[in-house]
Amino acid sequence: MGEIKDAGLKEKGKKRIQWADNEMPVLGLIRERFGKERPLEGMGVSACLHVTAETANLMRTLKEAGADVVLCASNPLSTQDDVAAALNEHYGISTFAIKGEDTNTYYRNIQEAIEVEPAITLDDGADLVSTIHSEYEELSSGIIASMEETTTGVIRLRAMDKDGALRFPVIAVNDADTKHLFDNRYGTGQSTVDGIIRATDILFAGKKVVVCGYGWCGRGFAMRARGMGSHVIVCEIDPVKALEAAMDGFDVMPMDKAAGIGDLFCTLTGNVNVIDKQHFESMRDGAVVANSGHFNVELNIKALKEIAVEVKKGIREYVDQYILPDGRKINLLAEGRLINLSAAEGHPASVMDMSFAVQALSSEYAVKNRKKLKPVVYSVPDKIDNTVAELKLKSMGIGIDSLTPQQQKYLNSWKSGT
Ligand code: ADE
Repeated sequence: MGEIKDAGLKEKGKKRIQWADNEMPVLGLIRERFGKERPLEGMGVSACLHVTAETANLMRTLKEAGADVVLCASNPLSTQDDVAAALNEHYGISTFAIKGEDTNTYYRNIQEAIEVEPAITLDDGADLVSTIHSEYEELSSGIIASMEETTTGVIRLRAMDKDGALRFPVIAVNDADTKHLFDNRYGTGQSTVDGIIRATDILFAGKKVVVCGYGWCGRGFAMRARGMGSHVIVCEIDPVKALEAAMDGFDVMPMDKAAGIGDLFCTLTGNVNVIDKQHFESMRDGAVVANSGHFNVELNIKALKEIAVEVKKGIREYVDQYILPDGRKINLLAEGRLINLSAAEGHPASVMDMSFAVQALSSEYAVKNRKKLKPVVYSVPDKIDNTVAELKLKSMGIGIDSLTPQQQKYLNSWKSGT
């Protein structure tokens, strides 16, 4: 059962899971209801997610719903080993994840999670779904649906859908309003700053920070870096987003220009080689480079290795220093792996509460509507978004107004004007 680093870490992991649970009231309410209604009774659930205290509380929720749950890591460097130990040893959830596992182990663990022949899968980045399609196609017919947590995963899955390659339904959890407007923006914003600070201990005030990508994650990080006194430069390929960044008051310029100006660079795009060879070549001495997108492909690390005359590994935990021929030093954080989950603890529990409430309710929805679902990518139903928002507001002690009958009538009428 499971593959973890050290079962002796289970008590520490349990405490962290409980601490996170205090900040996850919405998921807690869903868990309570699931315990009574058991909507996933007897079903196999395989989850490929970042193995964190917050994920542990989602796994507990699905188990309480009656599911047999198996968990593997969705990134080799994001696992919290104490949490993995607690899940395996205390909560009866087989967990296959070790922080720093090599690529072979990473994929072997995904295979372990698939081999239980799940009815529901949860993915963060689509590695689980893609492995099922390439190596276990025969299991596809038994899968009711897969939930996808992140932008990068949704992009991959929509591409599969477009090609007619998808073999079972997918629900794009990332695209729910109560997910990306909060998790991607406020979660990534805070946890990226947190990861960079834990890795480097640098002062953000006065730094020239180059933010690559102005989607919800980039917006969040740019906003928080500015809040800490950084001079923020945004690089974008989308004209509308670039315009938005400019009108939000940021400097906007192409990466070729920003490369020679920035002190700190962070990619949050979901694309490849956003920081490429020529960018590394023009960086200032001491530049710090991080990625907070799902995969490390956003940085052309191969090119960086080629142009460096020397690499000083681990000059600090999570920092490798690449020396260029003229002596300039470039500091690469966490080998280009997502910095917020490698060097810090990912998004705080309070925001994961909403994302994972959407995951839990979408899983229940998929099971209830299994006969209607086709092998395409679905949006999360609005009702789930509204339920999560209402419960979160309630947990924060915030009341809101509702429409009067007159206002309702006004909104529904096309006849009334001035
Ligand atoms: N993605 C970002 N932060 C996370 C967290 N704390 N747990 C799980 N997945 C995450």
